[in-house]
Amino acid sequence: MLENTLLMREVHMHKLSKLFILALIAITLYSCKSRDENTGIEYSPDMYVSKGYEPYSQTRHMEYNPNGMTMRLPVVGTIARGQLDYVYTYLDSPEGYEAAAANINPVEKTSLNVLEGKKLYDIYCWSCHGKEGKNDGPVIVEGKFAKPPFENYQTPYIQNLADGKIFHVITYGKNMMGSHAHMLSPTERWKVIHYVKSLSMANGASPAAPAIDSTKVN
Ligand code: HEC
Repeated sequence: MLENTLLMREVHMHKLSKLFILALIAITLYSCKSRDENTGIEYSPDMYVSKGYEPYSQTRHMEYNPNGMTMRLPVVGTIARGQLDYVYTYLDSPEGYEAAAANINPVEKTSLNVLEGKKLYDIYCWSCHGKEGKNDGPVIVEGKFAKPPFENYQTPYIQNLADGKIFHVITYGKNMMGSHAHMLSPTERWKVIHYVKSLSMANGASPAAPAIDSTKVN
């Protein structure tokens, strides 16, 4: 009798644990149930279809944005933080060039700035204008480009040329000289101009100008 009761209890317990396991499976399956846009095919869909807004892509629930991207173009006229000096309003025209004379060099002519200008000049400009502004860079010497109409930087033409006009030429280019706007930031352009002016000895030799070592010309 006692044995029978124990057996019954055991069977009862067995049933209970079965029920418990079934309930556990049901809960687990329910938690994996597909939700709105998820396909439910993947084991853990959120790991495949990100719900975060990815700037360069678009998930299905964001389809109304153009270009297939979450990111939108900034409003016309938007200026990126710290890039106010990229705003340049002089037009790429002879009138714009003349008007640009009024654009004053905002970068201070310190020896460091002139030196930085030299470094940039020795990368981007010397191939035509030569290390000392004599228009004897290899591109000109080898006849790949016609010589600029001025003899060298030491002519009164360059000495008296407004910084703003040079900025205009570096930005847009002039005749055979191409634009260097994508190589030099506005601040870098102004530094190069300080160096060009140092080379041309405009307003007398600048004490800030670094000495030119012509033996180092390569
Ligand atoms: C591929 C050759 C080439 C390179 C590189 C070049 N220039 Fe020129 N540059 C010229 C030519 C050619 C002219 C003459 C344009 C004209 O008036 O027809 C010129 C003109 C100029 C002038 C006179 C502009 C004016 O208003 O008359 C300046 C100043 C000048 N360059 C500076 C620079 C600086 C600074 C750099 C480097 C950032 C540079 N150039 C790079 C070929 C070059």
